[in-house]
Amino acid sequence: MGNYLELFSSSAKQLGYLVEHRYNEEQLEANYTQLKSMVNELNLTQKQLVQSEKMASVGQLSSGIAHEINNPMGYIKSNVNTLTKYQDAYKQGFLLLEKLLADASDDDKKLQRLSDYWKKHDLDYLLNDTDVLLEETQQGISRVINIVSGLKSFARASDEKWAELQINDCVEEALKLSHNELKYTVTIEKNLADVPVINGNAGELVQVILNLLINAGQAIEKDGTITITTKLINDRVDLSIADSGTGIEQENLKNIFDPFFTTKEVGEGTGLGLSISFGIVENHLGSIDVKSVVGQGTTFTLSLPVASNDEWL
Ligand SMILES: Nc1ncnc2c1ncn2[C@@H]1O[C@H](COP(=O)(O)OP(=O)(O)O)[C@@H](O)[C@H]1O
Ligand SMILES: [Mg+2]
Repeated sequence: MGNYLELFSSSAKQLGYLVEHRYNEEQLEANYTQLKSMVNELNLTQKQLVQSEKMASVGQLSSGIAHEINNPMGYIKSNVNTLTKYQDAYKQGFLLLEKLLADASDDDKKLQRLSDYWKKHDLDYLLNDTDVLLEETQQGISRVINIVSGLKSFARASDEKWAELQINDCVEEALKLSHNELKYTVTIEKNLADVPVINGNAGELVQVILNLLINAGQAIEKDGTITITTKLINDRVDLSIADSGTGIEQENLKNIFDPFFTTKEVGEGTGLGLSISFGIVENHLGSIDVKSVVGQGTTFTLSLPVASNDEWL
């Protein structure tokens, strides 16, 4: 009997150890998972902080530069417009002269000199080339003005036109604006949940979503899909835009939010879209995260706080 009791008590002890061990293991696993998610969160926060720091200095610098460029750009644009009108008048005048020259007799020495001069300097060519040069100059001016307006938006006050808004409406608006650009190569899939409203500037958020959609479209070479998802996660609204495009090289991932970082041809990209978007999302107390696999695609996820009654604005 004593033996049984001993056996029983030692088995019970062992079971106890086992249960405790198991409990500890579960606890450990729970702690580990929690720690892992905290490290991830910390990593993201740190990345955001570094980026915010960069953006703060760029914001200061760029609003000054934008102002400096804007003034001369104003009269360059206006002068080129005026010159284009003058050019039309010159051309009409030259056309009349050309007729006069064609009808001139060989004895008319003065008109012959004019005719020689015309040929020597190839005035026909110059007149036509002036049109081309003016056209190119106007395109260049538009590009500079575009970049400058991008730079100015770094420094824009964030408290304009704040209101409660529905992020799904911003998605629809951005889809309308990008339809023409995307319609030939992209299939759009929408998983829009019935998420609560957030506080913010609808125009700015549409700009962010539009930037992400255009980037996604540009990353899709032939046929591809962009999946737009909204959902509520705790007290934040998440919006993700996933594309089946080229993906982003690992070495570029750390730079894509930097102003003027672009892998696109001159004229196709300015490298300002993501850095401006980052600034806007930050003003909305949100975060922006990216996951990408080369050859498979990229997902950008915005996370924005649900509107509360707090007077944090
Ligand atoms: N969805 C995407 N897929 C692949 N690459 C992307 C995507 N979004 C952004 N990128 C990369 O990030 C860079 C910076 O983007 P952005 O700031 O919008 O400037 P831009 O589009 O003018 O180049 C792009 O040049 C591209 O290399
Ligand atoms: Mg872009």
